[in-house]
Amino acid sequence: MAVPHLQEFPSADTLEHLFAAHLSAVCRRTATALEACGYRDLLVHSGSLRPLFQDDRTHPFEVNAPFKVWTPLSDVPDCFVHFVPDRPPRLLFHRPTDYWYKPAPLPQAYWTDRFEIVPCSDLQGARAALPEDLSHTAYLGEDFGGLAGWAGLALNPPRLIRHLDYHRAVKTPYELACLRAANRLGARGHRAAARVFTAGGSTFDIELAFLAACGQREQELPYNPIIALNENGAVLHYQMLEREVPPARRSLLIDAGAEFAGYASDITRTYAHETGEFADLIGRMDTLQQTLCAQVKAGIDWREVHLRAHRLLAALLADADLLTCSAEEAIDSQVTTVFLPHGVGHLLGLQVHDAGGFMRAPEEGDIERPESHPYLRLTRVLEPGFVVTMEPGLYFIDTLLAAARADRRRRLIRWSRIESLRPYGGIRIEDDLAVTATGCENLTREAFNAENAP
Ligand code: GLY
Ligand code: MN
Ligand code: MN
Repeated sequence: MAVPHLQEFPSADTLEHLFAAHLSAVCRRTATALEACGYRDLLVHSGSLRPLFQDDRTHPFEVNAPFKVWTPLSDVPDCFVHFVPDRPPRLLFHRPTDYWYKPAPLPQAYWTDRFEIVPCSDLQGARAALPEDLSHTAYLGEDFGGLAGWAGLALNPPRLIRHLDYHRAVKTPYELACLRAANRLGARGHRAAARVFTAGGSTFDIELAFLAACGQREQELPYNPIIALNENGAVLHYQMLEREVPPARRSLLIDAGAEFAGYASDITRTYAHETGEFADLIGRMDTLQQTLCAQVKAGIDWREVHLRAHRLLAALLADADLLTCSAEEAIDSQVTTVFLPHGVGHLLGLQVHDAGGFMRAPEEGDIERPESHPYLRLTRVLEPGFVVTMEPGLYFIDTLLAAARADRRRRLIRWSRIESLRPYGGIRIEDDLAVTATGCENLTREAFNAENAP
Protein backbone atom coordinates (compact mmCIF):
# COMPACT_ATOMS: atom_id res chain seq x y z
CA MET A 1 0.00 0.00 0.00
CA ALA A 2 1.37 3.39 -0.90
CA VAL A 3 1.13 5.92 1.88
CA PRO A 4 -0.67 8.91 0.33
CA HIS A 5 1.46 11.61 -1.13
CA LEU A 6 0.49 14.28 1.42
CA GLN A 7 2.96 15.77 3.85
CA GLU A 8 0.37 16.53 6.53
CA PHE A 9 -0.37 12.85 6.92
CA PRO A 10 1.27 10.63 9.53
CA SER A 11 4.90 10.07 8.57
CA ALA A 12 6.17 6.55 7.93
CA ASP A 13 8.04 6.77 11.26
CA THR A 14 4.88 7.69 13.14
CA LEU A 15 2.93 4.94 11.42
CA GLU A 16 5.64 2.39 12.13
CA HIS A 17 5.63 3.25 15.80
CA LEU A 18 1.82 3.25 16.08
CA PHE A 19 1.46 0.09 14.00
CA ALA A 20 3.80 -1.88 16.27
CA ALA A 21 1.54 -1.18 19.26
CA HIS A 22 -1.59 -1.83 17.18
CA LEU A 23 -0.36 -5.20 16.00
CA SER A 24 0.61 -6.20 19.55
CA ALA A 25 -2.93 -5.34 20.67
CA VAL A 26 -4.45 -7.34 17.81
CA CYS A 27 -2.20 -10.31 18.66
CA ARG A 28 -3.17 -10.13 22.34
CA ARG A 29 -6.90 -9.94 21.77
CA THR A 30 -6.78 -12.63 19.09
CA ALA A 31 -4.84 -14.97 21.40
CA THR A 32 -7.48 -14.43 24.11
CA ALA A 33 -10.31 -15.08 21.64
CA LEU A 34 -8.66 -18.24 20.27
CA GLU A 35 -8.18 -19.59 23.75
CA ALA A 36 -11.77 -18.78 24.76
CA CYS A 37 -13.08 -20.61 21.70
CA GLY A 38 -10.70 -23.58 21.80
CA TYR A 39 -8.52 -22.94 18.73
CA ARG A 40 -4.73 -23.14 18.44
CA ASP A 41 -4.20 -20.69 15.57
CA LEU A 42 -5.92 -18.37 13.09
CA LEU A 43 -5.77 -18.17 9.32
CA VAL A 44 -7.25 -15.09 7.60
CA HIS A 45 -7.69 -14.87 3.85
CA SER A 46 -7.30 -11.56 1.98
CA GLY A 47 -10.04 -12.58 -0.48
CA SER A 48 -10.39 -13.99 -3.97
CA LEU A 49 -10.78 -12.51 -7.42
CA ARG A 50 -14.29 -13.36 -8.61
CA PRO A 51 -14.73 -14.06 -12.32
CA LEU A 52 -17.45 -12.41 -14.36
CA PHE A 53 -19.99 -14.77 -15.87
CA GLN A 54 -18.78 -16.18 -19.18
CA ASP A 55 -15.84 -13.81 -19.33
CA ASP A 56 -12.12 -13.89 -18.64
CA ARG A 57 -12.27 -10.71 -16.58
CA THR A 58 -12.95 -10.43 -12.86
CA HIS A 59 -14.89 -8.12 -10.58
CA PRO A 60 -12.71 -5.49 -8.88
CA PHE A 61 -10.93 -7.02 -5.92
CA GLU A 62 -12.27 -6.17 -2.46
CA VAL A 63 -10.12 -7.22 0.47
CA ASN A 64 -11.79 -8.94 3.45
CA ALA A 65 -12.18 -6.68 6.48
CA PRO A 66 -10.82 -9.19 9.06
CA PHE A 67 -7.60 -9.33 7.01
CA LYS A 68 -7.23 -5.54 7.07
CA VAL A 69 -7.06 -5.42 10.84
CA TRP A 70 -3.68 -7.18 10.49
CA THR A 71 -2.19 -5.38 7.54
CA PRO A 72 -3.01 -2.41 5.28
CA LEU A 73 -2.31 -4.63 2.27
CA SER A 74 -5.54 -4.13 0.36
CA ASP A 75 -4.89 -5.07 -3.25
CA VAL A 76 -3.43 -8.58 -3.32
CA PRO A 77 -5.85 -11.54 -3.56
CA ASP A 78 -5.11 -14.96 -2.09
CA CYS A 79 -2.77 -13.87 0.68
CA PHE A 80 -3.16 -15.26 4.20
CA VAL A 81 -2.24 -14.01 7.64
CA HIS A 82 -1.38 -16.95 9.86
CA PHE A 83 -1.24 -16.25 13.57
CA VAL A 84 -0.08 -18.60 16.30
CA PRO A 85 -0.16 -16.98 19.78
CA ASP A 86 3.24 -15.96 21.13
CA ARG A 87 4.80 -15.96 17.67
CA PRO A 88 5.11 -13.10 15.17
CA PRO A 89 2.30 -13.29 12.63
CA ARG A 90 3.20 -14.59 9.19
CA LEU A 91 2.00 -13.19 5.89
CA LEU A 92 1.72 -15.84 3.19
CA PHE A 93 2.09 -13.49 0.26
CA HIS A 94 0.65 -14.59 -3.07
CA ARG A 95 3.18 -14.08 -5.89
CA PRO A 96 2.12 -16.13 -8.88
CA THR A 97 4.41 -16.82 -11.78
CA ASP A 98 2.54 -14.90 -14.45
CA TYR A 99 3.25 -12.98 -17.62
CA TRP A 100 -0.32 -11.70 -18.21
CA TYR A 101 -0.36 -9.60 -15.07
CA LYS A 102 2.42 -8.14 -12.99
CA PRO A 103 2.71 -10.04 -9.72
CA ALA A 104 2.56 -7.67 -6.76
CA PRO A 105 6.03 -6.90 -5.43
CA LEU A 106 6.87 -8.10 -1.93
CA PRO A 107 5.66 -5.29 0.33
CA GLN A 108 8.15 -3.06 2.08
CA ALA A 109 6.50 -0.44 4.26
CA TYR A 110 6.06 0.76 7.81
CA TRP A 111 4.31 -2.46 8.83
CA THR A 112 6.31 -5.18 7.07
CA ASP A 113 9.06 -5.68 9.67
CA ARG A 114 6.43 -6.95 12.08
CA PHE A 115 5.64 -9.97 9.91
CA GLU A 116 7.46 -12.96 8.69
CA ILE A 117 6.63 -12.68 4.99
CA VAL A 118 6.52 -15.95 3.05
CA PRO A 119 6.13 -15.63 -0.74
CA CYS A 120 3.84 -18.35 -2.13
CA SER A 121 3.38 -18.84 -5.86
CA ASP A 122 0.08 -20.71 -5.47
CA LEU A 123 -2.33 -22.24 -2.98
CA GLN A 124 -0.26 -25.41 -2.69
CA GLY A 125 2.66 -23.24 -1.62
CA ALA A 126 0.49 -21.58 1.02
CA ARG A 127 -0.75 -24.95 2.25
CA ALA A 128 2.82 -26.23 2.51
CA ALA A 129 3.71 -23.25 4.74
CA LEU A 130 0.96 -24.15 7.24
CA PRO A 131 0.93 -26.84 9.93
CA GLU A 132 0.11 -30.30 8.63
CA ASP A 133 -2.73 -30.67 11.13
CA LEU A 134 -5.33 -27.91 10.67
CA SER A 135 -7.89 -29.44 13.00
CA HIS A 136 -7.34 -26.69 15.62
CA THR A 137 -7.12 -23.85 13.13
CA ALA A 138 -9.87 -21.26 12.69
CA TYR A 139 -10.24 -19.75 9.23
CA LEU A 140 -11.79 -16.38 8.34
CA GLY A 141 -12.76 -15.71 4.74
CA GLU A 142 -14.81 -17.12 1.90
CA ASP A 143 -15.11 -20.88 1.59
CA PHE A 144 -13.63 -20.95 -1.91
CA GLY A 145 -12.99 -24.07 -3.97
CA GLY A 146 -9.24 -24.08 -3.33
CA LEU A 147 -9.80 -24.95 0.34
CA ALA A 148 -11.48 -28.27 -0.49
CA GLY A 149 -8.44 -30.36 0.41
CA TRP A 150 -7.53 -28.42 3.57
CA ALA A 151 -9.08 -30.93 5.94
CA GLY A 152 -9.93 -29.92 9.48
CA LEU A 153 -10.14 -26.11 9.12
CA ALA A 154 -12.95 -24.56 11.16
CA LEU A 155 -14.53 -22.17 8.66
CA ASN A 156 -15.70 -18.84 10.07
CA PRO A 157 -16.62 -20.05 13.56
CA PRO A 158 -19.45 -17.69 14.65
CA ARG A 159 -18.38 -17.63 18.29
CA LEU A 160 -14.81 -16.66 17.47
CA ILE A 161 -16.05 -14.00 15.03
CA ARG A 162 -18.17 -12.48 17.80
CA HIS A 163 -15.13 -12.29 20.09
CA LEU A 164 -13.04 -10.59 17.41
CA ASP A 165 -15.76 -8.22 16.17
CA TYR A 166 -16.72 -7.10 19.65
CA HIS A 167 -13.24 -5.78 20.36
CA ARG A 168 -12.82 -4.23 16.93
CA ALA A 169 -15.15 -1.42 18.03
CA VAL A 170 -12.44 0.08 20.27
CA LYS A 171 -9.83 1.60 17.99
CA THR A 172 -6.10 1.61 18.73
CA PRO A 173 -4.13 4.87 18.44
CA TYR A 174 -2.87 3.61 15.06
CA GLU A 175 -6.43 3.11 13.85
CA LEU A 176 -7.42 6.56 15.08
CA ALA A 177 -4.50 8.06 13.14
CA CYS A 178 -5.69 6.24 10.01
CA LEU A 179 -9.27 7.40 10.54
CA ARG A 180 -8.07 11.00 10.95
CA ALA A 181 -6.15 10.70 7.69
CA ALA A 182 -9.18 9.16 5.94
CA ASN A 183 -11.17 12.18 7.07
CA ARG A 184 -8.50 14.57 5.74
CA LEU A 185 -8.71 12.88 2.37
CA GLY A 186 -12.51 12.84 2.46
CA ALA A 187 -12.71 16.54 3.41
CA ARG A 188 -10.38 17.34 0.53
CA GLY A 189 -12.69 15.44 -1.82
CA HIS A 190 -15.78 17.18 -0.44
CA ARG A 191 -14.27 20.63 -0.92
CA ALA A 192 -13.53 19.82 -4.57
CA ALA A 193 -17.00 18.33 -5.09
CA ALA A 194 -18.71 21.43 -3.65
CA ARG A 195 -16.74 23.66 -6.01
CA VAL A 196 -17.95 21.66 -9.02
CA PHE A 197 -21.56 21.83 -7.77
CA THR A 198 -21.28 25.62 -7.46
CA ALA A 199 -19.79 25.80 -10.94
CA GLY A 200 -22.75 23.88 -12.38
CA GLY A 201 -21.28 20.40 -12.92
CA SER A 202 -23.20 17.15 -13.36
CA THR A 203 -23.32 14.31 -10.86
CA PHE A 204 -20.60 12.60 -12.87
CA ASP A 205 -18.40 15.72 -12.86
CA ILE A 206 -18.84 15.99 -9.08
CA GLU A 207 -17.76 12.38 -8.58
CA LEU A 208 -14.68 12.81 -10.78
CA ALA A 209 -13.68 15.89 -8.79
CA PHE A 210 -14.10 13.96 -5.53
CA LEU A 211 -11.97 11.06 -6.76
CA ALA A 212 -9.23 13.30 -8.16
CA ALA A 213 -8.98 15.32 -4.94
CA CYS A 214 -8.79 12.15 -2.81
CA GLY A 215 -6.31 10.58 -5.23
CA GLN A 216 -8.38 7.37 -5.21
CA ARG A 217 -10.16 5.22 -7.77
CA GLU A 218 -13.81 4.44 -7.11
CA GLN A 219 -12.92 0.87 -6.16
CA GLU A 220 -10.47 2.14 -3.55
CA LEU A 221 -13.16 4.14 -1.74
CA PRO A 222 -14.91 2.57 1.25
CA TYR A 223 -18.29 2.89 -0.54
CA ASN A 224 -19.65 4.28 -3.77
CA PRO A 225 -20.28 8.01 -3.36
CA ILE A 226 -23.89 9.09 -3.05
CA ILE A 227 -24.19 12.25 -5.12
CA ALA A 228 -27.75 13.51 -5.38
CA LEU A 229 -28.87 16.74 -7.01
CA ASN A 230 -32.26 18.30 -6.25
CA GLU A 231 -35.11 15.83 -5.51
CA ASN A 232 -32.68 12.88 -5.77
CA GLY A 233 -31.52 13.79 -2.27
CA ALA A 234 -34.64 11.97 -1.07
CA VAL A 235 -33.15 8.64 -2.19
CA LEU A 236 -31.02 7.61 0.76
CA HIS A 237 -28.40 5.70 -1.26
CA TYR A 238 -28.85 7.44 -4.61
CA GLN A 239 -26.56 5.60 -7.04
CA MET A 240 -27.02 7.10 -10.51
CA LEU A 241 -24.19 9.07 -12.10
CA GLU A 242 -25.86 11.34 -14.63
CA ARG A 243 -23.67 13.00 -17.20
CA GLU A 244 -26.33 15.63 -17.99
CA VAL A 245 -26.69 18.76 -15.91
CA PRO A 246 -30.29 19.11 -14.68
CA PRO A 247 -32.16 22.16 -16.00
CA ALA A 248 -32.45 23.67 -12.51
CA ARG A 249 -29.84 23.50 -9.78
CA ARG A 250 -31.33 23.67 -6.29
CA SER A 251 -29.42 21.38 -3.92
CA LEU A 252 -26.65 18.81 -3.55
CA LEU A 253 -26.50 15.98 -1.02
CA ILE A 254 -23.11 14.28 -1.19
CA ASP A 255 -22.25 11.31 1.01
CA ALA A 256 -18.72 10.23 0.19
CA GLY A 257 -15.69 9.00 2.09
CA ALA A 258 -12.10 8.08 1.41
CA GLU A 259 -9.88 5.32 2.71
CA PHE A 260 -6.48 5.43 4.40
CA ALA A 261 -4.58 2.21 5.08
CA GLY A 262 -7.84 0.29 4.98
CA TYR A 263 -9.78 2.64 7.28
CA ALA A 264 -12.85 4.55 6.06
CA SER A 265 -14.28 8.00 6.42
CA ASP A 266 -18.04 8.43 5.94
CA ILE A 267 -18.99 12.06 5.39
CA THR A 268 -22.16 13.78 4.19
CA ARG A 269 -22.76 17.41 3.39
CA THR A 270 -25.83 19.11 1.92
CA TYR A 271 -25.72 22.38 0.02
CA ALA A 272 -28.37 24.78 -1.25
CA HIS A 273 -27.65 26.62 -4.46
CA GLU A 274 -29.40 29.75 -3.23
CA THR A 275 -30.41 31.28 0.05
CA GLY A 276 -34.00 30.62 1.08
CA GLU A 277 -36.09 28.13 3.02
CA PHE A 278 -34.04 25.06 2.11
CA ALA A 279 -30.77 26.79 3.00
CA ASP A 280 -32.36 27.79 6.33
CA LEU A 281 -33.37 24.20 6.94
CA ILE A 282 -29.78 23.05 6.29
CA GLY A 283 -28.62 25.57 8.91
CA ARG A 284 -31.13 24.21 11.43
CA MET A 285 -30.06 20.62 10.72
CA ASP A 286 -26.42 21.57 11.17
CA THR A 287 -27.24 23.01 14.59
CA LEU A 288 -29.21 19.86 15.47
CA GLN A 289 -26.31 17.64 14.37
CA GLN A 290 -23.83 19.66 16.44
CA THR A 291 -26.12 19.46 19.46
CA LEU A 292 -26.11 15.67 19.15
CA CYS A 293 -22.32 15.56 18.68
CA ALA A 294 -21.87 17.63 21.85
CA GLN A 295 -23.65 14.93 23.86
CA VAL A 296 -21.46 12.04 22.73
CA LYS A 297 -19.10 10.56 25.30
CA ALA A 298 -18.25 7.20 26.82
CA GLY A 299 -21.08 5.68 28.84
CA ILE A 300 -23.88 6.99 26.60
CA ASP A 301 -26.34 4.43 25.26
CA TRP A 302 -26.44 4.92 21.48
CA ARG A 303 -30.13 4.00 21.39
CA GLU A 304 -30.75 7.06 23.54
CA VAL A 305 -28.77 9.25 21.08
CA HIS A 306 -30.98 7.96 18.28
CA LEU A 307 -34.18 8.69 20.19
CA ARG A 308 -32.86 12.12 21.16
CA ALA A 309 -32.26 12.85 17.47
CA HIS A 310 -35.95 12.17 16.86
CA ARG A 311 -36.98 14.46 19.69
CA LEU A 312 -34.78 17.26 18.35
CA LEU A 313 -36.09 16.67 14.84
CA ALA A 314 -39.68 16.87 16.07
CA ALA A 315 -38.93 20.25 17.63
CA LEU A 316 -37.20 21.40 14.43
CA LEU A 317 -40.14 20.31 12.25
CA ALA A 318 -42.59 22.12 14.49
CA ASP A 319 -40.43 25.21 14.59
CA ALA A 320 -39.99 25.26 10.81
CA ASP A 321 -43.77 25.06 10.37
CA LEU A 322 -43.74 21.63 8.77
CA LEU A 323 -46.26 20.24 11.28
CA THR A 324 -49.76 21.11 12.33
CA CYS A 325 -49.22 19.39 15.71
CA SER A 326 -46.83 19.75 18.63
CA ALA A 327 -43.38 18.16 18.72
CA GLU A 328 -44.63 15.73 21.40
CA GLU A 329 -47.52 14.59 19.26
CA ALA A 330 -45.17 14.14 16.29
CA ILE A 331 -43.04 11.76 18.36
CA ASP A 332 -46.01 9.87 19.78
CA SER A 333 -47.52 9.43 16.28
CA GLN A 334 -44.24 8.44 14.61
CA VAL A 335 -44.27 11.40 12.29
CA THR A 336 -40.50 11.91 12.63
CA THR A 337 -39.77 8.49 11.11
CA VAL A 338 -41.38 9.74 7.87
CA PHE A 339 -38.66 12.39 7.65
CA LEU A 340 -35.80 10.41 9.24
CA PRO A 341 -36.11 6.74 8.29
CA HIS A 342 -32.54 5.58 9.03
CA GLY A 343 -30.33 5.21 12.08
CA VAL A 344 -28.59 8.28 13.47
CA GLY A 345 -25.18 6.62 13.15
CA HIS A 346 -23.11 3.46 13.22
CA LEU A 347 -19.67 2.13 14.05
CA LEU A 348 -16.97 3.05 11.54
CA GLY A 349 -13.54 1.58 10.91
CA LEU A 350 -12.35 -1.12 8.53
CA GLN A 351 -15.83 -1.14 7.04
CA VAL A 352 -18.09 1.81 6.56
CA HIS A 353 -20.73 0.00 8.59
CA ASP A 354 -18.33 -1.67 10.96
CA ALA A 355 -18.99 -5.00 12.60
CA GLY A 356 -20.12 -5.57 16.18
CA GLY A 357 -22.74 -2.83 16.59
CA PHE A 358 -25.28 -4.89 18.50
CA MET A 359 -23.29 -7.07 20.88
CA ARG A 360 -23.92 -6.91 24.62
CA ALA A 361 -20.76 -9.00 25.01
CA PRO A 362 -19.20 -11.76 22.91
CA GLU A 363 -21.00 -14.46 24.90
CA GLU A 364 -24.10 -12.51 25.94
CA GLY A 365 -26.24 -12.03 22.86
CA ASP A 366 -27.35 -8.82 21.22
CA ILE A 367 -28.96 -5.59 22.42
CA GLU A 368 -32.35 -4.98 20.79
CA ARG A 369 -33.07 -1.92 18.72
CA PRO A 370 -35.68 0.48 20.09
CA GLU A 371 -39.19 -0.47 19.01
CA SER A 372 -40.16 1.09 15.63
CA HIS A 373 -36.53 1.87 14.74
CA PRO A 374 -35.52 -1.18 12.67
CA TYR A 375 -32.68 0.47 10.76
CA LEU A 376 -30.50 1.47 13.70
CA ARG A 377 -27.14 -0.34 13.32
CA LEU A 378 -25.65 0.41 16.73
CA THR A 379 -27.24 -0.36 20.09
CA ARG A 380 -24.17 -0.53 22.35
CA VAL A 381 -23.11 1.78 25.15
CA LEU A 382 -20.22 3.92 23.85
CA GLU A 383 -16.68 3.26 25.09
CA PRO A 384 -13.53 5.35 24.73
CA GLY A 385 -12.01 4.49 21.35
CA PHE A 386 -15.28 3.77 19.56
CA VAL A 387 -15.58 5.65 16.28
CA VAL A 388 -19.16 6.40 15.24
CA THR A 389 -20.88 8.46 12.61
CA MET A 390 -23.39 11.14 13.55
CA GLU A 391 -25.76 11.54 10.63
CA PRO A 392 -29.22 12.91 11.33
CA GLY A 393 -31.30 13.55 8.23
CA LEU A 394 -34.49 15.21 7.08
CA TYR A 395 -35.87 13.99 3.76
CA PHE A 396 -38.95 14.43 1.62
CA ILE A 397 -39.43 10.85 0.42
CA ASP A 398 -42.48 10.36 -1.78
CA THR A 399 -43.30 6.80 -0.71
CA LEU A 400 -43.08 7.58 3.02
CA LEU A 401 -45.04 10.82 2.63
CA ALA A 402 -47.72 8.95 0.68
CA ALA A 403 -48.00 6.36 3.46
CA ALA A 404 -48.34 9.11 6.09
CA ARG A 405 -50.94 10.87 3.98
CA ALA A 406 -52.97 7.68 3.91
CA ASP A 407 -53.06 7.14 7.67
CA ARG A 408 -53.72 9.05 10.88
CA ARG A 409 -50.63 11.20 10.36
CA ARG A 410 -52.34 13.04 7.47
CA ARG A 411 -53.65 15.78 9.75
CA LEU A 412 -50.32 16.26 11.56
CA ILE A 413 -48.21 17.40 8.58
CA ARG A 414 -48.43 20.78 6.85
CA TRP A 415 -48.59 19.52 3.27
CA SER A 416 -48.26 22.89 1.57
CA ARG A 417 -44.81 23.31 3.16
CA ILE A 418 -43.82 19.78 2.13
CA GLU A 419 -44.77 20.52 -1.49
CA SER A 420 -42.52 23.55 -1.61
CA LEU A 421 -39.56 21.63 -0.14
CA ARG A 422 -39.90 18.33 -2.06
CA PRO A 423 -37.88 19.58 -5.08
CA TYR A 424 -34.84 19.88 -2.80
CA GLY A 425 -34.84 16.18 -1.87
CA GLY A 426 -33.41 16.11 1.61
CA ILE A 427 -30.66 16.92 4.06
CA ARG A 428 -28.07 14.74 5.76
CA ILE A 429 -25.08 16.01 7.69
CA GLU A 430 -22.64 13.33 8.72
CA ASP A 431 -19.43 13.54 10.75
CA ASP A 432 -17.16 10.85 12.17
CA LEU A 433 -16.60 11.01 15.94
CA ALA A 434 -13.91 9.36 18.04
CA VAL A 435 -15.41 8.78 21.50
CA THR A 436 -13.40 9.72 24.59
CA ALA A 437 -14.08 9.43 28.32
CA THR A 438 -15.34 13.01 28.50
CA GLY A 439 -16.63 13.78 25.00
CA CYS A 440 -15.55 13.12 21.47
CA GLU A 441 -13.13 14.27 18.80
CA ASN A 442 -14.93 15.32 15.64
CA LEU A 443 -12.57 13.86 13.05
CA THR A 444 -14.54 15.34 10.16
CA ARG A 445 -14.91 18.94 11.34
CA GLU A 446 -11.23 19.00 12.27
CA ALA A 447 -10.37 17.68 8.81
CA PHE A 448 -12.47 20.36 7.09
CA ASN A 449 -10.87 23.03 9.29
CA ALA A 450 -7.41 21.77 8.44
CA GLU A 451 -8.26 21.78 4.74
CA ASN A 452 -9.36 25.41 5.14
CA ALA A 453 -6.20 26.48 6.88
CA PRO A 454 -3.90 28.66 4.73
N1 GLY B 1 -22.59 6.17 3.53
C1 GLY B 1 -23.52 5.28 4.11
C2 GLY B 1 -23.91 5.73 5.44
O1 GLY B 1 -23.83 6.90 5.73
O2 GLY B 1 -24.23 4.96 6.30
MN1 MN C 1 -22.89 6.60 7.68
MN1 MN D 1 -22.56 8.24 4.79
